[in-house]
Amino acid sequence: MALINKCLFPAAGYGTRFLPVTKCMPKEMLPLVNKPLIQYGVEEAMVAGITGMAIVTGRGKRALEDHFDINYELEHQIEGTGKEESLSEIRKIIKNCTFSYTRQIEMKGLGHAILTGETLIGDQPFAVILADDYCVADGDNVLTQMVKLYEKYQCSIVAIEEVPAEDTHKYGIIDGVLEEERIYRVSSMVEKPDPADAPTNLAIIGRYILTPDIFELIRTTPPGKNGEMQITDAIMEQAKQGRVIGYQFQGRRFDCGSVDGFIDATNYNYQNIYSPGN
Ligand code: G1P
Repeated sequence: MALINKCLFPAAGYGTRFLPVTKCMPKEMLPLVNKPLIQYGVEEAMVAGITGMAIVTGRGKRALEDHFDINYELEHQIEGTGKEESLSEIRKIIKNCTFSYTRQIEMKGLGHAILTGETLIGDQPFAVILADDYCVADGDNVLTQMVKLYEKYQCSIVAIEEVPAEDTHKYGIIDGVLEEERIYRVSSMVEKPDPADAPTNLAIIGRYILTPDIFELIRTTPPGKNGEMQITDAIMEQAKQGRVIGYQFQGRRFDCGSVDGFIDATNYNYQNIYSPGN
């Protein structure tokens, strides 16, 4: 059995930046051309060897469950036609992965969303993908890079990248000691600091591997920035108690939670990745 078997997708957020389209459509279903953001995330996890997809949903998010299920009427209609090819990727996902869901009743921060997923994860290390951070890479995808790193270090790992100094207030920011190329041992972590207070410009992006002690740490860490349960604060506790790695991943990230990033990702995919059904 692989060391990392489950990937958690916090997907209960409202997507207010994309209103009105997100009024009754989950933001995770926004497509980069023809494939929804959540499917890119699930494919990244599947390629990384993970088959258990654990999705933290909320009210109005049922389209997510329907997407990762068979639509018999559609299957019947397109059977034997060239259009079947358009469903090949999603069929592969449905065949190879299992999906489990739980609802986050109240929005109390990313830490709270991850804690809500505890019931789906249990007592094992797991990956987390924030689907609105869309990542591309030439070789191994970002989560595969992190799973390989986990095999060596067996501790929590956060993906990081350098951001412009004026953007530190949008991210969790780490400080640490460079131990190897691209690998920092985290010494401090702060959620969305003002540029003047930021220890570095190394920002956490939406890929994590977490050891299961994180759940108890989320429960016991007091609310942080904006009065929310911040995953960044709980991971900082882990770093104090043991070791946490900040991994400067190879590849490129698009912030699809912002309109500019979403448009950039759409253009990138249209030019480099898009083909019908893929
Ligand atoms: C969350 C985390 C933040 C991280 C970011 C990555 O913030 O709280 O630490 O840097 O995701 O996308 P959010 O974007 O949900 O406000």
